[in-house]
Amino acid sequence: NPVSIALTVNGVERRLDVPPTVTLLDLLRERLDLTGAKKGCDQGQCGACTVLVNGRRVNACLQLAVMNDGAEITTIEGVGQPDALHPLQEAFIAHDAFQCGYCTPGQICSALGMMSEGHAKTAAEIRELMSGNLCRCGAYGNIVDAIEDVMG
Ligand code: FES
Repeated sequence: NPVSIALTVNGVERRLDVPPTVTLLDLLRERLDLTGAKKGCDQGQCGACTVLVNGRRVNACLQLAVMNDGAEITTIEGVGQPDALHPLQEAFIAHDAFQCGYCTPGQICSALGMMSEGHAKTAAEIRELMSGNLCRCGAYGNIVDAIEDVMG
């Protein structure tokens, strides 16, 4: 039977009846039309589905939606505005940190989470701490450059 949960998604409070087997990723994409988070592998291996849950980066494909009752979720749709991008989004553009763009929402959400964790100081550490986010175009060098730029 569906379970009633409350979520704040990109600042908007929502109450939803959710079947207990639905993942957070499917809830976001299919019920809430927030298709920025991508379904790459659906097995926790690619990071394309990364969103922030209470400020921490998670693979939304590995979470059941009902586990997140009361949580605050930020997806790429909640990062920046179309006419005022987030500095990290600007940096991705400036550094050509994407080619096909499929992994980019996850890369950016993951980088935001990583920056708030505060452990990355060097390019090598950024690369290590971003290793859960795959890019099949191989834009890793530029992704690290973009993140480093914003971290100052
Ligand atoms: Fe979730 Fe690949 S779709 S990690």
